[in-house]
Amino acid sequence: MPAVATERLIQPARNIQGSLRLPGDKSISHRYALLGGLAKGTTRLANFSTGADCASSLACVAALGAQIARKDEAVEITGAAGRFTAPDQPLDCGNSGSTMRMLSGLLTAQSGDFTLVGDASLSRRPMERIRKPLTQMGARIELTDGHAPITIHGAPLTAIDYTTPTPSAQVKTAVLFAGLQAQGTTKVREAVRTRDHGELALRAFGASVTRSLDSVSIAGGQHLHAIEATVPGDISSAAFFLCAAALFPGSNLIFDALGLNPTRATLLDVLTALGAHIGVLNLEDKHGELVGVVQVNAPPQGLTGTTISGALSAQLIDELPVLAAIGPYTQHGIRIRDAKELRVKESDRIALVAANLRAMGAEVEEFDDGLDVPGGQTLHGAEIDSGGDHRIAMAFSVAALRATGDTLIRGAESAAISFPEFFDLLDRVTER
Ligand code: S3P
Repeated sequence: MPAVATERLIQPARNIQGSLRLPGDKSISHRYALLGGLAKGTTRLANFSTGADCASSLACVAALGAQIARKDEAVEITGAAGRFTAPDQPLDCGNSGSTMRMLSGLLTAQSGDFTLVGDASLSRRPMERIRKPLTQMGARIELTDGHAPITIHGAPLTAIDYTTPTPSAQVKTAVLFAGLQAQGTTKVREAVRTRDHGELALRAFGASVTRSLDSVSIAGGQHLHAIEATVPGDISSAAFFLCAAALFPGSNLIFDALGLNPTRATLLDVLTALGAHIGVLNLEDKHGELVGVVQVNAPPQGLTGTTISGALSAQLIDELPVLAAIGPYTQHGIRIRDAKELRVKESDRIALVAANLRAMGAEVEEFDDGLDVPGGQTLHGAEIDSGGDHRIAMAFSVAALRATGDTLIRGAESAAISFPEFFDLLDRVTER
């Protein structure tokens, strides 16, 4: 995260209008960076994520022997052709849980010793969830009280059949990345189908991956080959704008080349259920990822309300903060359950959403695994504590658009973790 803490003043808006082409999806960019780092040949990625998190993935593979160059706004990664070089220095994953967990999967079968470190927030996040399956495969991994720093002593791996106890695409991907280098065929089963970018990226880089409704399998000993790709626009970044536009009758917002992978696009269904008009056209397949144009218009009578629970909560995990933040402006409110994972993200997102909604004058009830945000409320401007969490800073910038009075977002620099352009683009589409 940028070292200098900054604040942003958000004034109420009258309307949201315009068209946006967003930087590349964070989840896909991480996977392409890590696999491109290991593959043979030069991978060329256009529209790579501009967030600091994906820069951490690039810096890590560079420290492991891949070469990174920027050419005509694309990122070029000349991979280590299957063999990383153990660096003398720790690998700095910054704020990025995705980098730390997925890179651990890639490193376990490599020769040498590797240490992975992160910032204060990342050093509090649970890492046992990757140590457990990777250790079952034969990996030698040491954690520090369940957290980073992580030390990995490369070792030969054997395939496993693993069921993820909590839905997590990062854990699934870490096991598949290890499975790529293990002896035998590794299978990961999940009760809720999480985002499948890991599987799709492995296929894009030439690995054969077999899928059933609730499992993914990969045979070890496969080699990866460089790709050329344009990363689809990030739908989790679009979420802030989609929710903002859904709040203003008369709004009209269009997204070009947006990632619409079905395991990521649940927000569009939720907004439709809330009454927003969502149009999708020009769908295309890029390396297995769906990309298309999306148009959103708010309903004249305002958004209704909904409950998000079960599998939906896992699929919407990154969008829940902004959905909760607009809850007071819906007619019947937003109820969230089965989302305990929110407590172990970059911050405790349940606690911070509740505290910041209250700061804006909202009534909200906090549960261990979710929130009840009643509808029909009027919020006032307030000072928002983002807790250094990018999604909290952006979610409350959206809530601020419909509040009375100005809102000050503290820790606004954290938006750059996933979406450095956020405030500029918000200004561009906001009418005051
Ligand atoms: C991600 C998976 C999710 C998500 C994170 C990105 C990924 O985390 O919250 O922002 O790219 O696989 P978990 O796997 O911990 O649920």
